[in-house]
Amino acid sequence: MNNKATAVAPSNIAFIKYWGRKKDPKLRLPENGSISMNLSNLLTTTTVEFSKTFKTDTIMFNGKKESLVENRVLEHIDRIRELAGINTRVKIVTENNFPTGTGLSSSASGFAALTVAGAKAAGLKLSEKEFSILARQGSGSACRSIPDGFVEWLDGDTSETSYADSLYKPDYWDIVDVVAVTSTGKKDVPSSTGHTLAQSSIFFPVRKSKMKEKISLCKKYLKEKKFQKLGELIEAEALELHAIYLTSTPSLIYLLPETLRVMQFVKKWRSDGLPVYFTLNTGQDIHVICEKKNAKKVAELLTKIDGVQKTIINYPSKGVRLVENHLF
Ligand code: DP6
Repeated sequence: MNNKATAVAPSNIAFIKYWGRKKDPKLRLPENGSISMNLSNLLTTTTVEFSKTFKTDTIMFNGKKESLVENRVLEHIDRIRELAGINTRVKIVTENNFPTGTGLSSSASGFAALTVAGAKAAGLKLSEKEFSILARQGSGSACRSIPDGFVEWLDGDTSETSYADSLYKPDYWDIVDVVAVTSTGKKDVPSSTGHTLAQSSIFFPVRKSKMKEKISLCKKYLKEKKFQKLGELIEAEALELHAIYLTSTPSLIYLLPETLRVMQFVKKWRSDGLPVYFTLNTGQDIHVICEKKNAKKVAELLTKIDGVQKTIINYPSKGVRLVENHLF
């Protein structure tokens, strides 16, 4: 058995968001389906090795040793060990090429890479669907970083039916996500905890009742390549997500002054005739969606905004893949 493997996985940006989970928190079954695009330049690389020579588990993240107490990565490795019927100790080295915990969905790329490298190193042979189901249990949004391109996380009621599938390959449509990094400060409340507060918002039942309609509208605009309609839907969805955050108990406030500044500029550019739309996740960094022909201009405009530290241009990308270059 080749017990060492490395995977590279993209983060993804949800056009229609996963927010709130059904009862069993372990299974990470979402309240609704979601749709996303994989991002070419927000990447996690992870090497996993199982070996009888290791006395303890070790996890290195961006060059630092991680504490193993209540460690989600280790819990995920335990799932993999159980599936493979092994109890060998593990060494994991993982690196992100982008900021962590700022709204760029590092848990999506992180758990997708961990799932595929871990499963391969443990000798498991899984289908894409099985990888997606396994990745979902580590972090919900990770299930969408397994397949290629534009992806739907199906609204299943059971673990076996809750996984992501590719709607379109990356080259289907030249949509670009220009990420504006506003601050590298980590958010106070991570998504994982935030999900459990979703139902405390008085607006959550309204949101829930509209999700099926939103998913079909998003699929329709993707199919017809209606950029303006898609952009309007994506932006309204992000604002709705933050309305849920703001009205949860306790409230969740992720928007920084610089995030709001970018939001206002995007609206202004749009009224000046530039087709751009923003979306946000759990954090202060902001994703600006445009067509490829406008990507450079959008990045240049973003860079000029006070508080924007850097921009990262992302094209639609394939999903997770195994690579030969190990990190150790
Ligand atoms: C706002 O997938 O990070 O980015 O399942 O607890 O790991 P866990 O949550 P996570 O939540 C993502 C929330 C979101 C929306 C989305 O990506 O769909």
